[in-house]
Amino acid sequence: MTHTELSTQSHVPRPWYENAVFYQILVGVFNDTAGEGIGTLKGVEEKLDYLQWLGIDCLWLSPFYASPLRDDGYDISDYLTVHPEYGTMEDFEDLIAAVHARGMKLITDLALNHTSMDHYWFQESRKNPEGPYGDYYVWGDDPDRYPDIRIIFTDVESSNWSFDEVRGQYYFHRFYKEQPDLNYDNPAVHEEVLSLVDFWMGKGLDGFRLDAIPYLYERDDTGGESIPETIEFIEKLRVYMDEHYPDAFMVAEANQPPAETREYFGDGNRMHMVFNFPLMPRLYQAIATSQASPIEEIMPELLHLPPGTQWGNFLRNHDELTLEMVSEFERDLLYSAFLPHDSMRAHLGIARRLAPLMDNDRAKIELMFALMFGLPGAPFVYYGEEIGMQDDPSLQDRDAVRTPMQWEPGPGAGFTTSETPKRPIVGGFGLSVAEQRHDPDSLLRFVRSLIAARKAHPEIGIGNYESIAVTEPSLLAILRTLKEEDRVIASDPLGSAPLVCLYNFAPYPIDIPKQALTPLGGVGHVEIGSEHGVSEVRAGDAIPAFGYLWLSALYSA
Ligand code: NOJ
Repeated sequence: MTHTELSTQSHVPRPWYENAVFYQILVGVFNDTAGEGIGTLKGVEEKLDYLQWLGIDCLWLSPFYASPLRDDGYDISDYLTVHPEYGTMEDFEDLIAAVHARGMKLITDLALNHTSMDHYWFQESRKNPEGPYGDYYVWGDDPDRYPDIRIIFTDVESSNWSFDEVRGQYYFHRFYKEQPDLNYDNPAVHEEVLSLVDFWMGKGLDGFRLDAIPYLYERDDTGGESIPETIEFIEKLRVYMDEHYPDAFMVAEANQPPAETREYFGDGNRMHMVFNFPLMPRLYQAIATSQASPIEEIMPELLHLPPGTQWGNFLRNHDELTLEMVSEFERDLLYSAFLPHDSMRAHLGIARRLAPLMDNDRAKIELMFALMFGLPGAPFVYYGEEIGMQDDPSLQDRDAVRTPMQWEPGPGAGFTTSETPKRPIVGGFGLSVAEQRHDPDSLLRFVRSLIAARKAHPEIGIGNYESIAVTEPSLLAILRTLKEEDRVIASDPLGSAPLVCLYNFAPYPIDIPKQALTPLGGVGHVEIGSEHGVSEVRAGDAIPAFGYLWLSALYSA
């Protein structure tokens, strides 16, 4: 690259999403303003002050469209309608205006691989094969076709095909049988997708999370995931978005093996962001084995992304802790560490929330947060994670991790005044926003200060990543620096301001080795992670069991 190219680049600001902090909301369990036991869009609006106080930049709403809720809304029966239990389109418009008035952003979830059986298109398709919707779904007479396409919900479905009595044919579905797959070989389906994109973007949305995006097409003799036709459609969608909504962004749910996951970035011409499924299970593996190696080994595969793209880092979400893409050996290891009872299993993964997965051990919970916020990528907080919410293993499937947000102690948890909430409230002493907000030692206040620390260090999200070689296998030591081209933009007063992040996976303290502090000239200034108000750290000082430190150099004024 020539100098001119470099200096030109240095004035191009980074897109907003690359260093944003995201927050995932399930509308129906977030905040009920109607007193019916069900969260509402108005309820989300009411909590924007809180989310802004926490430091959130962008909200992600899981599906809130019309749906029979067989798959908690990922079975959409009308893409253009708000589920009546959650409010009205006007409420959505008010919400988006209120979000933007605060300088925040809003993205919504689009499940484009499938619809609900209740969708008008499917109802028409099954009744009238020759009609305009006859070819909207994947119909066939042979339920053994596509034998290499895996069944995703293995514990519920025994085939990807179900027989429809009305049409007298089988239809294909990757997920529940109530979620027929759309037929992307039909250009009319493309047109429908683009028009619903227009509809929502027309409301002023900032982008989408694209659900189950690897599965759009099926082809014989393939596993039907990430196949060229699907990638081509993604590129087409991206061209459309760039042309019509150049500031918007799309994040892909592509739970695939690491190299395949990267395919979704293309050379910057596919998805702006891809959820970091390759990294996520490694964080848990590092905790389970007290070794840094699971993270160290995956990191080289995650670096050097095409321009304008970013990983979406997460610890948990509304699904099970998915273990589809780890080896059998790793899966067994993670089961033995994190699945004490089979009732907590959902599909191939584990339906538990972060805090209980960490045995409610505060050090481990903080360590996980500090990893998510300290490794390259944009972090996604799952509602309730910031207060250490518990789960309810007695609930079916993934509902265990989808219980109402706990705003206050007591019945209803400040979520609802109804005596019959949509799902049972888990509760727990001290596990509410009200209790934690004014307690400087609370998890909530910790998460808030972590977000603030991260924002003070743009190099975390977008900078260079270098592993620092240390001999202690339980210690992960990394060096983060701003990229040359970002220095002007970040107007970093300290020039290159390196940050050293240390993570101890051992259940005992570790002495900080000299090499770890070499990039800081031997002395680290604590940015976050010291419980004791220590501000200077030197080689030989201890990093506590499951502790972490973010350290910068000391500068004289
Ligand atoms: C992935 C979503 O995250 C999950 O909740 C859903 O069940 C499937 N896609 C099907 O839409």
